[in-house]
Amino acid sequence: MTVADELHPVIHEGRVAVITGAASGIGKAAALTFAKLGLKIAIADLEEAKLAELGKQLVGQLGEANVLVVPTDVSKIDQVVRLKDRVYEAWGEVSVLMNNAGIGAKGTSWGGLDNWHKIFEVNLFGIVNVQQTFVPSMLHQENQAVIINTGSKQGITNPPGNAAYNASKAAVKSLTEGLAHELREQPDQNVTAHLFIPGWTFTGLTGADGLKAKPPGAWSAEETVLYMLDRVRLGDFYILVPDNETKKEVDQLRVMWGAADVAEGRPALSRWHPNYKALFEEYMREGLSQLE
Ligand SMILES: NC(=O)c1ccc[n+]([C@@H]2O[C@H](COP(=O)([O-])OP(=O)(O)OC[C@H]3O[C@@H](n4cnc5c(N)ncnc54)[C@H](O)[C@@H]3O)[C@@H](O)[C@H]2O)c1
Repeated sequence: MTVADELHPVIHEGRVAVITGAASGIGKAAALTFAKLGLKIAIADLEEAKLAELGKQLVGQLGEANVLVVPTDVSKIDQVVRLKDRVYEAWGEVSVLMNNAGIGAKGTSWGGLDNWHKIFEVNLFGIVNVQQTFVPSMLHQENQAVIINTGSKQGITNPPGNAAYNASKAAVKSLTEGLAHELREQPDQNVTAHLFIPGWTFTGLTGADGLKAKPPGAWSAEETVLYMLDRVRLGDFYILVPDNETKKEVDQLRVMWGAADVAEGRPALSRWHPNYKALFEEYMREGLSQLE
């Protein structure tokens, strides 16, 4: 995969990218990738020191006039409004809006109530705040634009372990599907929405358990971003990203199994139900042999 300036109407030199959660991980890799392509970039994050450091690096590449560093808590609407005002005052448009800020705080079905609130405030309402603030202005732009919301495979297949995170990312899938439909109904259809579903990516979020080096199964944040950009360029809505452990076909089969729980009336999360273990394994074996 390479980053080439392919004259895509949106991801293009001189256009404007806004990235939330840009101080580390996937957001930072996206900022550095957009900088290579010559976009103007606004970076927003809670982590002011890391954000300022990245800002300096971007200014070195793009020049002061093409970088905005805006410390922002996406869960606070007034801070999101300030971010939008800064961007429109400076550049008058947004062409790539990347809702990437996210946290992995843990909440189980009957525990961690504070974390449930925190995770929904950031992972869901962070995006709702940004959409409500930016989309009305983006609709009035002449140029095409894209909105990339970051979901998770956990919001689709719902693996046991962190009910709060899964539910927040399931909500992101739902709100992004709704956004895509509503944008499609607009007369100009100038803005499109995309659900970015990273695979296992080595970042602050997944490396929080003290891992210093990227595990072989994970992708680097840059690999994940490059894959995402290729798919946005092709116009995909669902951008289901593989990693070194889980290939695309495995994800496809897991998603279809989850949907079939509903359609066929199986128990919830039958993939992890002891009575369905053998059946699920056989389904994966057969499915993979047919797809390959
Ligand atoms: N890394 C993975 O394997 C993976 C997989 C699926 C989805 N994701 C999603 O990708 C996105 C990026 O995660 P990452 O892995 O790069 O993690 P990361 O922790 O490296 O980056 C997340 C960034 O979001 C920022 N942030 C947190 N709360 C914020 C707030 N209220 N306002 C503004 N910024 C805030 C953090 O300071 C951090 O810089 C998240 O939405 C995450 O859920 C990651």
